[in-house]
Amino acid sequence: MVFLWNFLKTINQTGKTMENTDSTEGILSAQEFASELNITKKTLFQYEREGKLPPAKRHKRGKIDYRYYSAEDLVEARKRLNLSTPFPALRRKQLFMNLKGGVGKSVLSYNYAYAMAKRGLQTLVIDLDAQAHLTTYAGLQPEKSKFTLYHVLFEQVPIELAIVPTKLSTLHIIPSNLNLSPLELSLFGMHAREYRLQRALASLQEKYQIVVIDAPPNLSLLNVNAILSVQDLIVPVMADFFSYDGLKLLFESLAQFERDLQYSLENIFVVLNNYNAAEVVCQQSRRALETHYLDYLLKSVIRKSTAFPKSTSVQKSVFELDPKSKAALDIAALTDEILSHFTKTGHEAQSVAGRKR
Ligand SMILES: Nc1ncnc2c1ncn2[C@@H]1O[C@H](COP(=O)(O)OP(=O)(O)OP(=O)(O)O)[C@@H](O)[C@H]1O
Ligand SMILES: [Mg+2]
Repeated sequence: MVFLWNFLKTINQTGKTMENTDSTEGILSAQEFASELNITKKTLFQYEREGKLPPAKRHKRGKIDYRYYSAEDLVEARKRLNLSTPFPALRRKQLFMNLKGGVGKSVLSYNYAYAMAKRGLQTLVIDLDAQAHLTTYAGLQPEKSKFTLYHVLFEQVPIELAIVPTKLSTLHIIPSNLNLSPLELSLFGMHAREYRLQRALASLQEKYQIVVIDAPPNLSLLNVNAILSVQDLIVPVMADFFSYDGLKLLFESLAQFERDLQYSLENIFVVLNNYNAAEVVCQQSRRALETHYLDYLLKSVIRKSTAFPKSTSVQKSVFELDPKSKAALDIAALTDEILSHFTKTGHEAQSVAGRKR
């Protein structure tokens, strides 16, 4: 497998990502690492002293030597302690979508995927937007990607060749670039044109527990492909009334797909983004969402945080930039809430058309 990734890196993104895999940045603190292993910090340190677990990596800041752990350390520690990977049977494909632009689809989807991977879940994030904001955010150079979904969906290049590893061993990415733009036209003449992405992703079913897709803000054929590929839709909504209006159109369009293509999403999660409790418009739009979309609205709210724009400018996740920021805490809470949704027993999938809207 290692050989395969080394081979892939040489053909897609020529080494750009693998050189990051030895990152010395703190990914998990001792507290986070211990809680992922279901032990206390004290037990963790004891296991390290006894050699039951390898010693932590250290990072010197001033006079203090901080311990830190990577997602790879987590995978290794789980092996050594005979713990299974979290949610071993979990397989979710999830699409971040809103017909409105600039609502946080790219920043939320990347950090959400990063948070899942950081917990040791095998995660793939796919950039479906030719603007390639997510690709750039992940620290890649879009123009260097030899293969994108264009090659996979139109030229039948195996999807594995478009996948690039990242600095987190548990997080892989399918980058995009402007080559994706003509895909829309190319798809039109194709057989089963709405189902190309669904078919391409089928071969990755066993490999990834979580597949996260970042969509552009439109109802293109490519986005229809994305909708038909996933079980869950995650809809970021900014706390203003323009975003709220876009939701109605999205739900009407989804119901139309369900009727025309006989497909139903299992879950729609609406997440309020850029929330500032002190602003009246935020409070009002939250109340409007609670009134009209309560069945879909997540309890987790993503607050307005300067860590988001800052993190994009340095091409790092909010967890790397500042794990204590509101942004990192809110994204972690979002992943917790969505994961807990799938661990609840008796969860029934409901079609969009059949739910209260
Ligand atoms: N919670 C937040 N706090 C502060 N800034 C935010 C927040 N969420 C998003 N932003 C900022 O809003 C801008 C738009 O975010 P993003 O690019 O993720 O939106 P998008 O929905 O993907 O846009 P597009 O439709 O163009 O693809 C970015 O500058 C981002 O940093
Ligand atoms: Mg975007």
